[in-house]
Amino acid sequence: MIDLKTAIVTGAARGIGRSIALRLASDGMNVVVNDIEANTQALQELATEIANSQAAKGSSANAHVVTGDVSVSSDVQNLIKETVSKFGSLDVMVANAGILMMSRIEEVDEDEWDKLISVNIRGTMLCFKYAAQQMISQGKGGCMLAASSIAGRRGHAGGCAYSTSKFAIRGLVQSSAVDLGKYQIRVNAYAPGFIDTDMSRKALDYAKADYEAAAKAASPLGRVGETTDISNLASFLVSSESSFITGQTYGACGGFYLD
Ligand SMILES: NC(=O)c1ccc[n+]([C@@H]2O[C@H](COP(=O)([O-])OP(=O)(O)OC[C@H]3O[C@@H](n4cnc5c(N)ncnc54)[C@H](O)[C@@H]3O)[C@@H](O)[C@H]2O)c1
Repeated sequence: MIDLKTAIVTGAARGIGRSIALRLASDGMNVVVNDIEANTQALQELATEIANSQAAKGSSANAHVVTGDVSVSSDVQNLIKETVSKFGSLDVMVANAGILMMSRIEEVDEDEWDKLISVNIRGTMLCFKYAAQQMISQGKGGCMLAASSIAGRRGHAGGCAYSTSKFAIRGLVQSSAVDLGKYQIRVNAYAPGFIDTDMSRKALDYAKADYEAAAKAASPLGRVGETTDISNLASFLVSSESSFITGQTYGACGGFYLD
């Protein structure tokens, strides 16, 4: 039985964030699930699912919903404050929320660019900043994860804004790991390939590609990634099993990108 810890997962209403929230709860953590207000119902259903499954196992791990936009500083500060007020501490921050925009560079809509950069980069920075302040004040270390991507390793057609943001995540993770190492706070990123979610379907719609065929062809393993392929990695990266790992971006992309 691992020590009960408290985690925040942003963008948890669906997709990869939802899978990570379920997995960390199953690992025995209290989980605060966050998403934008429009997704409150999906978050409440997830929190109920976590509470019921943990109660059935005799676990005291629980879930709590806090809505908010990760690109808004006051929302992120409130997310941390409510987490500590509900569960007493914050040990794990998973800055997963992100958005996708597909556009050729010569056609970029500047307002959409600003929005994506704000959610994907500023949102992750705010989650790291305020989680770091809380973890430092607790004095018992912690873990932080961010969502990079295969698009954070190399550019793709129509991916200028998204790819820019996912490259930036790697820089943010590396610098934050250096800043926070002395507090025993580890900072890493996962870099998914094609994982079967609304977002990856939108990316392949843009390319007018058949989803199954294109996503399978992108991996030497010949299959589409599942959200659990990422939540398995996230579980490892926030566990004591990875206690000497920080500042890294790990691919879980079925070999799409070869490092
Ligand atoms: N699915 C993939 O193939 C893939 C590949 C590489 C990277 N990623 C990254 O993984 C993360 C999760 O991706 P996904 O496929 O589950 O995406 P998704 O679109 O299915 O889910 C993203 C969630 O984030 C939420 N969100 C968006 N803006 C937000 C904001 N400002 N504040 C709070 N929540 C917000 C959305 O409402 C949604 O519930 C993203 O950062 C994404 O860029 C995904």
